[in-house]
Amino acid sequence: MKFGFPMAFTATVLSWAILEYGDQMDAVGQLDPAQDSLRWITDYLVNAHPSENVLYIQVGDPVADHKCWDRPESMTEARPLVQVNTSCPGSDVAAETAAAMASASLVFKEADSTYSSTLLKHAKQLFTFADKHRGIYSENIPEVATYYNSTGYGDELLWAAAWLYHATGDNSYLQYATGQNGEDYAQFGSPTWFSWDNKLAGTQHYLIPDDTCRL
Ligand SMILES: *[C@@H]1O[C@H](CO)[C@@H](O)[C@H](O)[C@H]1NC(C)=O
Ligand SMILES: *[C@@H]1O[C@H](CO)[C@@H](O)[C@H](O)[C@H]1NC(C)=O
Repeated sequence: MKFGFPMAFTATVLSWAILEYGDQMDAVGQLDPAQDSLRWITDYLVNAHPSENVLYIQVGDPVADHKCWDRPESMTEARPLVQVNTSCPGSDVAAETAAAMASASLVFKEADSTYSSTLLKHAKQLFTFADKHRGIYSENIPEVATYYNSTGYGDELLWAAAWLYHATGDNSYLQYATGQNGEDYAQFGSPTWFSWDNKLAGTQHYLIPDDTCRL
């Protein structure tokens, strides 16, 4: 079973951990495995984004798959695909996937600049898709709400913009997150917990001026 929303969040947080603690991971021989784990996800996400405004956000039937204890290689169940697109948009999942790609592009910037550029291209396209075609994925595709319900997309739009700002240095992303969208969604000064459904605390870490240079 592949659930795109929490998986993309996991990739973003793994990227963040590598960017902040990569030296320490290297000292104990864990930097390569960490990067390999990240790349496994980002390779998948690249494949899940075949065109600008289409993102596959789920593979498998959660009811059938949660009853199945076979190896993935042995499974014979149908593997249905679910996508978001312009008629059924999901700004939350598309923007989180943009954040995953943008943060991972920083991780791979020196080791593999071609791959890093590919990730950044997907990140920019997904952010535009998320911003221009707004919607909550679990409202547009109610079947996903049982497992990873999204309570809103404002936090993901700001979070993606924050990562794109760091990945590109382009001030328009900073303005996006601190301007009207920030006023609408950021709840500056009063974020709640940081989780796969709520990234405001992480976003503020990057956008509050004293912290913006941490990377
Ligand atoms: C858009 O996504 C919805 C939800 O996944 C799907 O039902 C629909 O077929 C998709 N549209 C196209 C043109 O593929
Ligand atoms: C999903 O989140 C929305 C918005 O918070 C809420 O109204 C809805 O009841 C939730 N659905 C499920 C299945 O948890």
